[in-house]
Amino acid sequence: MTSSAVPPPVTAVMEAASGWLPSRLAEVERRLAEVAAGHGPELGEEAEATLTAGGKRLRPLLVLICAGADADERAVRAAVAVELVHMATLVHDDVLDGAPVRRGRPTVFARSGRDAAISVGDLLFSRAFAELAVDGGEPEVAELSSASVALALGELAQRRDAYDTSIDEARYLHRCSLKTARLFESACRIGRSASGLPGTEELAGFGREIGLAFQLLDDVLDVTGPVERTGKARGTDLLDGTVTLPLILALPREPQLEEADLRGLDEAEAERLCDLIAATGSLDEVRERARAAIARAKQALEGEAFSDEERRLLGLIADGVVERYS
Ligand code: IPE
Ligand code: IPE
Ligand code: MG
Ligand code: MG
Repeated sequence: MTSSAVPPPVTAVMEAASGWLPSRLAEVERRLAEVAAGHGPELGEEAEATLTAGGKRLRPLLVLICAGADADERAVRAAVAVELVHMATLVHDDVLDGAPVRRGRPTVFARSGRDAAISVGDLLFSRAFAELAVDGGEPEVAELSSASVALALGELAQRRDAYDTSIDEARYLHRCSLKTARLFESACRIGRSASGLPGTEELAGFGREIGLAFQLLDDVLDVTGPVERTGKARGTDLLDGTVTLPLILALPREPQLEEADLRGLDEAEAERLCDLIAATGSLDEVRERARAAIARAKQALEGEAFSDEERRLLGLIADGVVERYS
């Protein structure tokens, strides 16, 4: 893959990295295409469509950078596995959220229905773990399994909390840590531990913090749009009943939000509520929390376990998370 073929913030990292990173990410792409292909017309086409719809490939990049320039084939397999788990969870997430659009295209759920989406997600999950079933791959399997369990628990908690405007910030943050931050952490852990280099715990902390920032900003973007940037309509969280931090902070400040019945919203009403949320100033507070998480992430890299290149590349990823969304 050339650096121009990948989306920002990946582009910035690719431009800054020496040759090893683009060529290893290209290997990941090739392997992802192989894995998605060859599952017959029913599941295979949807799996391939999910893959070719793009994606920022942030998690595989984290695996590769944490594994370092001298890593072997195992790092590529781990990067593939983490991205496959990510894709599987997105396909299932779109079933849970009843989402019509992802990455600018109709979701598997919208195109082919609930049953197909569940099966495609299952396929991607199973291929992820098969990818790690190589000699000595047990620790990676255990780590990714634990992250997948956290993701499932996070998604369940989010469904349980649906339409509940009494949930507080701590509950929301707990959900974010399960459904998003944990997989970012895992990407860093798996990459580092396979390399035998020091700093796994610090990188795990780095991953958790940028994952948290990522979800906070994703939830801001759901309110602000624009659609061209997010690949989905404004207010989709409101429409599926997901109460996120922008709304939690806005609720006590805007009586019309307190009075709104989230269950009966149409798209126009969801957009109107997005404007009300934005007018309370809560979005800037959420952005501020995300920036603080990014600062904590960078602090975690201050120790001597890391090379200048590692710090530079991971710093670019951390900045990219903010830039993309601000
Ligand atoms: C989307 O993740 C799901 C969230 C955690 C908000 P990404 O925005 O990384 O998804 P792709 O892979 O780039 O589409
Ligand atoms: C993140 O939650 C999805 C997962 C971590 C599986 P969201 O529901 O906010 O993600 P988007 O907005 O659909 O990408
Ligand atoms: Mg969703
Ligand atoms: Mg979202």
